[in-house]
Amino acid sequence: MRNVPLGPTGLTVPNVVAGMMRIDDKTDAEVRALYDAARGAGIDFFDHADIYARSLHSAEKRFAEALDLSAAERGEIRLQTKAGIVREGPYFDFSYEHLVSSVEASLRALQTDYVDVLLLHRPDALVEPAEVARAFDHLESTGKVRAFGVSNHTPRQIDLLRTAVRQPLVANQVQLSIAHAPLVTQGLAANMESTPQSSVLDGGGLVEYCRINGITLQAWSPLQGTRGNGGVFLGHPEYAELNAVIDELAEKYDVTPLAIAVAWITRHPADMQVVLGTTTAGRLADAAAGSDLRLTRAEWYALVRAAGYIVP
Ligand SMILES: NC(=O)c1ccc[n+]([C@@H]2O[C@H](COP(=O)([O-])OP(=O)(O)OC[C@H]3O[C@@H](n4cnc5c(N)ncnc54)[C@H](OP(=O)(O)O)[C@@H]3O)[C@@H](O)[C@H]2O)c1
Repeated sequence: MRNVPLGPTGLTVPNVVAGMMRIDDKTDAEVRALYDAARGAGIDFFDHADIYARSLHSAEKRFAEALDLSAAERGEIRLQTKAGIVREGPYFDFSYEHLVSSVEASLRALQTDYVDVLLLHRPDALVEPAEVARAFDHLESTGKVRAFGVSNHTPRQIDLLRTAVRQPLVANQVQLSIAHAPLVTQGLAANMESTPQSSVLDGGGLVEYCRINGITLQAWSPLQGTRGNGGVFLGHPEYAELNAVIDELAEKYDVTPLAIAVAWITRHPADMQVVLGTTTAGRLADAAAGSDLRLTRAEWYALVRAAGYIVP
């Protein structure tokens, strides 16, 4: 497992991490098997959120109850959670009260005194940077949160937070897969007429911004595409051309197609983390094989073209 820097914290973290969004209906044995597969593959970083699963904090609770970690084992892993979405709205709330109470409820559900990383889940249009700063200062000084970051934020939204927030923002978790790659491919077609790929989205330059500012990018839904009804692109007929190239590379490197989908992200020099969502222990181990599989430039771009993006 290749480790990458987590922002400017000095910590290194695995470049493949286990997302816990889908564990709510899993048995203790299934959650334990997933956890063991993760640890066996060198993955000691687990991604949560207050809103995952059927009721608030229920996936966090499922994780803690199924694993019943000792204090020593808790110290060996990194727990990341998120706050800021009010699911029953839906709306967003970056107020001091909401952020602090959400983290406190996450700590109770996770049965821990601290989370290693807290992410602001989705931008709040009504954000008051000074209020976020006050919440972060409180959560840091009480030892409840060790590092802070964002998710789904544009460069300018991060700049706005940084006008008041004192702590470094160590991560930005964004949707990215080879079949959903506007953040990466937009720059390839910059300044070309008549192609949607060239249009400057609000997140324009986000990858470059995070690299310049030492913010670790975390790629969520690394296996999901947008064609048809969406869903996993591996083996999906809407992505026949992409799957043909993936299968060829999987054979060449003697790994599963899943590992190639992961390797397309880990090959990027931004040292991104891939946030997997599988609940299948075997798939997690297969995916981990993509951690340090270094695709050649030609292979990486072949995947970009096969996914239907323009490489002019
Ligand atoms: N920040 C955000 O806004 C945000 C949003 C969404 C998600 N996330 C995070 O990102 C994580 C990953 O998201 P995700 O679950 O959408 O990611 P994903 O890894 O792209 O998808 C996982 C899903 O794909 C299925 N799958 C995996 N390999 C497959 C294969 N070869 N064939 C068919 N199905 C396959 C899995 O099924 P099995 O479980 O049966 O293997 C699971 O249902 C979440 O757990 C969460 O932590 C963050």
